[in-house]
Amino acid sequence: MFPFDRVIDRRGTLSVKWDDVHRVFGREDVWPMWVADMDFPAPKEVQEALRQRVEHGVFGYTVIPDSLKEAVCQWLERRHDWTIDPSWLVFAHGVVPAVAAAIEAFSEPGDRIIVFSPVYRPLFDLVRRHDRTLLFSPLRLEEDNYAIDWDDLERKLPDAKLLILCHPHNPGGKSWTKEELERLGELCLKHGVFVLSDEIHADLTLPPAKHTPFASLHPELAAQSATFRAPTKTFNLAGLQAAEVILPDESRRRAFRLVQQRHGFFTLNAFAIVGAEAAYRHGGPWLDALLDYLRQNIDMTVAYLAEHLPPLRPVRPQATYLVWIDCRGLGLSEAELKRRLLETGKLAVEFGSKFGQEGVGFIRLNIACPRPTLEEGLRRLATALRYIDAI
Ligand SMILES: Cc1ncc(COP(=O)(O)O)c(C=O)c1O
Repeated sequence: MFPFDRVIDRRGTLSVKWDDVHRVFGREDVWPMWVADMDFPAPKEVQEALRQRVEHGVFGYTVIPDSLKEAVCQWLERRHDWTIDPSWLVFAHGVVPAVAAAIEAFSEPGDRIIVFSPVYRPLFDLVRRHDRTLLFSPLRLEEDNYAIDWDDLERKLPDAKLLILCHPHNPGGKSWTKEELERLGELCLKHGVFVLSDEIHADLTLPPAKHTPFASLHPELAAQSATFRAPTKTFNLAGLQAAEVILPDESRRRAFRLVQQRHGFFTLNAFAIVGAEAAYRHGGPWLDALLDYLRQNIDMTVAYLAEHLPPLRPVRPQATYLVWIDCRGLGLSEAELKRRLLETGKLAVEFGSKFGQEGVGFIRLNIACPRPTLEEGLRRLATALRYIDAI
């Protein structure tokens, strides 16, 4: 019913993942399992809404309709049991530009901002690029996934202005539990630290894990946080560029909007508006089927590694389509790991140091692709590492 198994050639479509490998990895012949987008077509209803919009033929300035806000609110209610007021919603071109605007709105140069590491690199690059002081709080890798080092966090919170939470966490795919979020929220309230909660992967939480929006826990936490979401990760619409920021506190919302206006941001493009609304209104069944397909791809990846590459230890994601793999058992430097993957296996993945010092020795594999594409990637990974003593 949903064509996730169909291989679609993305080459020549201005795809970063497929068309930009030469610039990023220095060679053309690598199989791309890196950037976090999917090789699947968007839901039919989204394609149809965009087609109708294109056929109209006139692409003048746009307004963001109330119906989009309504669709977002209904989605949050349905999928995450979270009731929000439509007036809390602000739109942006992406989560990354929105987090940048929030850093600008809610802190001053020199202020300290905490980020749990390893983490999606732009979240800490943004802190540095805004001349704020970056405080990494390293996560601890436990049996099933990452955990917060509470002692380390408590040492850093009293000096901090903001904390950037990646929830679910990229990489590792950790879906923070209600208990962890409550404890984190209590500490942030105690120290007056405002939380930027990047929840772009929330809809990709894999049952039985259940996403709890940080701000949904308590009205005080809602007022003490900004939540960043997007239909782009969920429905594979990154090229349309759209995101939502949920800012319940009115004065914070005003400050955020002022920064956006200072940068000349006022509205979304016509396709982002139409695509986002169609996705939120009609994409539920597609997403359920997607999550099922992703789970099977994750199972396949974990089983393949156990059979063919036992020293590699995948961190099983509770959310996201990213498999974070601990390769430290191979005893290779990152440079050597990179050389083998790119030159011998001809496979492009994300290498761990990109996520901070704690990521060294890991790779991140994007498994959001048709099964034949995944099989090819796994074969290349095995080819790259086959002649290593540890295996
Ligand atoms: C945690 C996280 N935040 C933000 C983004 C990117 O967001 P956007 O494309 O909306 O700027 C990604 C993309 O991979 C991500 O993993």
